[in-house]
Order: sequence, then structure tokens, then C-alpha cells
Amino acid sequence: MSAIPATFRAYVAEKLEDRVERGVREFAAADLPPGDVELRVNWSSVNYKDGLATRLDGKVARISPLIPGIDLAGEVVGSEDPLLLPGSSILAHGYELGVSRHGGYAEYQRVPEGWAVPLPPRLTERDAMAIGTAGFTAALSVVALEERGLDPDDGPVLVTGASGGVGGSAVAILARRGYEVWAATGKPEEADRLRMLGARGVLTRDEVTGEGRPLESERWAGAVDSVGAATLPYVLRTLRTGAAVASSGNVSGPKLETTVFPFILRGVALLGMDSVNVPIAKRRALWERLATDLSPLGVGIPVTEVTLETLDPALDGIVAGTARGRWIVRIAE
Ligand SMILES: NC(=O)c1ccc[n+]([C@@H]2O[C@H](COP(=O)([O-])OP(=O)(O)OC[C@H]3O[C@@H](n4cnc5c(N)ncnc54)[C@H](OP(=O)(O)O)[C@@H]3O)[C@@H](O)[C@H]2O)c1
Repeated sequence: MSAIPATFRAYVAEKLEDRVERGVREFAAADLPPGDVELRVNWSSVNYKDGLATRLDGKVARISPLIPGIDLAGEVVGSEDPLLLPGSSILAHGYELGVSRHGGYAEYQRVPEGWAVPLPPRLTERDAMAIGTAGFTAALSVVALEERGLDPDDGPVLVTGASGGVGGSAVAILARRGYEVWAATGKPEEADRLRMLGARGVLTRDEVTGEGRPLESERWAGAVDSVGAATLPYVLRTLRTGAAVASSGNVSGPKLETTVFPFILRGVALLGMDSVNVPIAKRRALWERLATDLSPLGVGIPVTEVTLETLDPALDGIVAGTARGRWIVRIAE
């Protein structure tokens, strides 16, 4: 028997011929997918992908109607798994959530047991969503760079899109770990805040975009890039010999124009980050670290709270590139 009420509130995006109809509706539990874990969702968040999931040209939503929300955190109300007992807090993100299966913008949800992450002891559900997929991806990027050998003594590390979710989290995590972080942003007014987050220096968007020589002066010991087409070519041609960039995003477009010279003359590496399909054991382990030595919390990343009723401007704003830190969604009324 289901522990979820017959109907509840959800924010739904439905594709019509010429637009996406979005808004809060009563949703029937019978229309949720099956899943071993039933939860009352208390918090979710807004990621770039969520914005795309509610647009006609977004190429993210695989079902319609869709409850978007690639992140969720809440209290288990029904489960037979001894690790995920009713009353305990869990979070989930990625896999099919908010894309081909209903996601976090709903008062109740079901997820497969193998997608659930028990909330690490030091985090609240709200904290977990302030981190969300963005913070998780930033941590994934830092771990990938360090596994390849990056060390704080190696020199400056560049973060692009630094005022956004992935970028801001990466600045915070790297600075906490003792790196000399340089933040590139298209928002000059964010420079002081980025320095407060721990950035040693701030670059303008112009400095990290545009055409250049196939190889330029070796500057960066590592880089975290979630911007894509506009910045990745610059990053590749300015990485030091043997350095790597963790690439996760495409807010400025998916095309990559580069030469092979950074790879074959400097041994530079392009490390692809995919937070969606990280296996559950690695995912749970990384969340333990997000609560401890890889935490982006408590250093001043702006967190703006919205509700299901006030989601629209956040979803539109993140696609328009106006993100400053993280938007989180308070689901419970
Ligand atoms: N691979 C994965 O698993 C994964 C996981 C999470 C996110 N992502 C991707 O990573 C990207 C960022 O996600 P997010 O949630 O952090 O988004 P976000 O909060 O909107 O941050 C993106 C930032 O990029 C910069 N930016 C936006 N438009 C730009 C443009 N046209 N040219 C140059 N810079 C631009 C802006 O920062 P500034 O103004 O400071 O430059 C913006 O705040 C998205 O493409 C998302 O899909 C991928």
C-alpha cells in the first residue's frame, strides 16, 4: 500500500504545440512512476538543466507532462530498505529524475532504492539542495583533477562561469582546499563576492573568450569549466604542460573549436564530467565528502529560496545566465 496521499501539489511542465504550459497543479499519486522508496519532498533546487526542461527548444524533457527538478531531498514515508527507513532523510539527483521520469518539484515522489543517498549526518535537507547537482559536479571536478595529480602547490587554477552554480561551488571548494583560485565571470559586479568566496583573482569574460593562437603562455595548473564553447578553447590553449580541465557544461553552446596542439605538445587532458550516471556507491561516498572536506557551504555562496509558485523567474533566469549562486525550492507549504 502506498504511503503517498491520493493527490498532492506539483509543478508541471507540459509541451503544447507552440509553447510549454507550466505551473502548479494537483497531481495524482497514481500517475507517479513505481519506486521502492516513497518520500515527502521538502526541498529541491534549480539547475540550468531544469530551466531547459521547461522550454520548447530545451531538448531536455523526455516525457510530457513532466514534473521537472533534477534534485530532491526529503523524508522517507514508505520503504522496505533497512538503510532508508520511514522518518529518515534522503536526497537523490540525476539518473532520469526531472528528464524522463518525474522529478523534485512535487510534494511527494517515488525513487528506486538504488538512486537514494542517505543524508550525511552533518547536512540538513536544505543544505543538500543548496549544494545540489551543481555542488556535486564541482566536487566531482575537483576530485577528478586531484586524482590526475593536481595539488595546491602546482599553481593557479581557473574556474569559468564563476558566479553560477557549478562555478561558484568550484571556487569555494578549491579555495577551502588551499588552491590559488582565479574566477572568470561575465558579471563584473560579482568580483568582490568571488574574492570573498576565496578567489585570489578575477578575470572578465572577455579575457577567457574569443579567438587566440593555438597555444598561448602556459598559465593554469588546472581548470573547472562549465561554460563550454565560449571558454573551453581559451582554457585548453593556456593550460600548463601536463595540466587538465574538468569540463561539465555548455551554457554558451556545445561546439568545441580547438587544435590538437594542447594535447600533443603539452600533454593537456580534457576530463569529461557526467554527474547524471555516477554509480550509487561513488555518489554516496562523494556526498559524505561534500559534507566534510569538499563542502562549498558556509563561505558566502548566495542561496535564494523560491517556492513552487515562484519558480518561473528562477527557471527563466538560469537559462538567461543571470544565476548568482544557487536557487533552492521550498516545497513544503
Ligand atoms: N555534466 C554534468 O553532469 C553537469 C552537472 C551540472 C551542470 N552541468 C552543466 O553545467 C552548466 C552550468 O550549470 P549551472 O547549473 O552551474 O548553471 P548556472 O548556475 O546558470 O551557471 C552558469 C554560469 O555560466 C556563465 N554563463 C552563462 N551564460 C554564458 C555565456 N553565454 N557565455 C559565457 N558564460 C556564460 C554565467 O556565469 P558568469 O556570469 O559568472 O560568467 C552563469 O552564471 C550547464 O551547461 C549545465 O547543464 C553539467
